[in-house]
Amino acid sequence: MTASLGLYGLGVMGSALALNILEKGFALHVGNRTASKVPPFVQAAGPLGARATGHDSLAAMAAAMAPPRAIILMVDAGPAVDTAIEALLPHLSPGDTIVDCGNADFHDTRRRAAALEAQGLIFMGVGVSGGEEGARHGPAIMAGGRPESWAHLAPVFEAIAATYEGQPCAALMGPDGAGHFVKTVHNGIEYADMQLIAEVYGLLRHGQGKAPAEIGALFGQWDQGRLKSYLVEITAAVLSAVDPATGLPLVDVILDQAGQKGTGRWTVVEALALGQSASAIEAAVGARGWSAEKATREVGEQILGTERKPLELSETELEGALLAGRIVAYAQGFRILQAASETYGWGLDQARVSETWRAGCIIRSALLGDIAAAFRGEMPHGQLILAPAFAADLRASLPSLRRVVAAAVLGGHPVPALSAALAFADTFSQGRGTTDLIQGQRDYFGRHGFVRLDTGAVHQHGPWAVTIVDKVADPKAQ
Ligand code: 6PG
Repeated sequence: MTASLGLYGLGVMGSALALNILEKGFALHVGNRTASKVPPFVQAAGPLGARATGHDSLAAMAAAMAPPRAIILMVDAGPAVDTAIEALLPHLSPGDTIVDCGNADFHDTRRRAAALEAQGLIFMGVGVSGGEEGARHGPAIMAGGRPESWAHLAPVFEAIAATYEGQPCAALMGPDGAGHFVKTVHNGIEYADMQLIAEVYGLLRHGQGKAPAEIGALFGQWDQGRLKSYLVEITAAVLSAVDPATGLPLVDVILDQAGQKGTGRWTVVEALALGQSASAIEAAVGARGWSAEKATREVGEQILGTERKPLELSETELEGALLAGRIVAYAQGFRILQAASETYGWGLDQARVSETWRAGCIIRSALLGDIAAAFRGEMPHGQLILAPAFAADLRASLPSLRRVVAAAVLGGHPVPALSAALAFADTFSQGRGTTDLIQGQRDYFGRHGFVRLDTGAVHQHGPWAVTIVDKVADPKAQ
């Protein structure tokens, strides 16, 4: 790394990432929109602060840095990034690099990369996952940009990233928006996995009357097996926690309204735009939206009053259902990545993506190593659920998913993500579906035409009554 390095934005994630960079031995210029926060940050960094130089504005920071500069932005996604870029522009020289490490919309990243490249500057969109702890001690890093630009920055990012079996979980995913897109889909999978876990928790809690701590212990047990993952691990911790103020299980004092900043929704929007349906992810985003309508749900309970019935389901069935749901969530995420890669010409290496997610990020799990291996091996139609290892997993776990969804539905327990995952698996387990009828309907009302299954002939029509067009052409036609 020959460029001088700066980081702007000392919020929770920015401060943690800055300390991580300093700790790895790099000198770092730091700045923040509220400049008064800069000296306390340098002070609090202790001995690491010796390598930090604080500045009270982006202009001052850029002026103090020797070219070529590489400036990491850790500001809120959206207009704040454009504002920071505008402020920096007059003070940069050709060959300088701006690195956006926020959760940016990849369309913005593509726009910014094109605009800055036209001015002789370099722009990298880099997804960073792992929350505050990850940023401080080793996140997963998903970069987007030119290979030569990545080559300059890689020593820094590889040094601060999490490692898996000695390999840094930091990689160039592809050009321009590829890194931020991969991070967005990571978050979509994160949403689905969290929702699947919450649904299984709900079945254990409301369908089997188990106490949170007991359920936490079960998740802790599952974390030793095929479901091993960060999200299952923290689920065990959250469910085992007790509220110091009331002595109640912590989960019972938390308002059941989930927040969301947008990356899950973007995943779904982009999936649809790419002609995909990430139904488990969509169910998770939708469930968070419904959760926000607490007052409506409370009135709905009075008016509709669906009774939740007790559920006879074994722990093994619930574990299997969660595993099957998780596999589908990953599979849907990788389908979106594949579609985006083809559309934008990114040449994404799905195996590399899975490897980058093996440590440091929120969706890290025992499955990701196997997913990487699956992408490097035989995979019919590029579909994860058809790769031999995952097909075997699904064949073993789908009966559990089916029993769990069936019992939940009959018992009045909402399981939108589990049932979406089951419908996806069932759809892709049947060669012949029901869209033959849809094609017939489309042809009936709009003469859209269909393909004949027997002859392969296209633009075929059914023996429907003559259409308006025919009647105009031949007024005597009935
Ligand atoms: C990560 C997380 C991180 C953040 C999400 C939360 O990978 O470290 O995904 O990016 O926690 O943005 O998103 P919501 O607020 O939308 O749940």
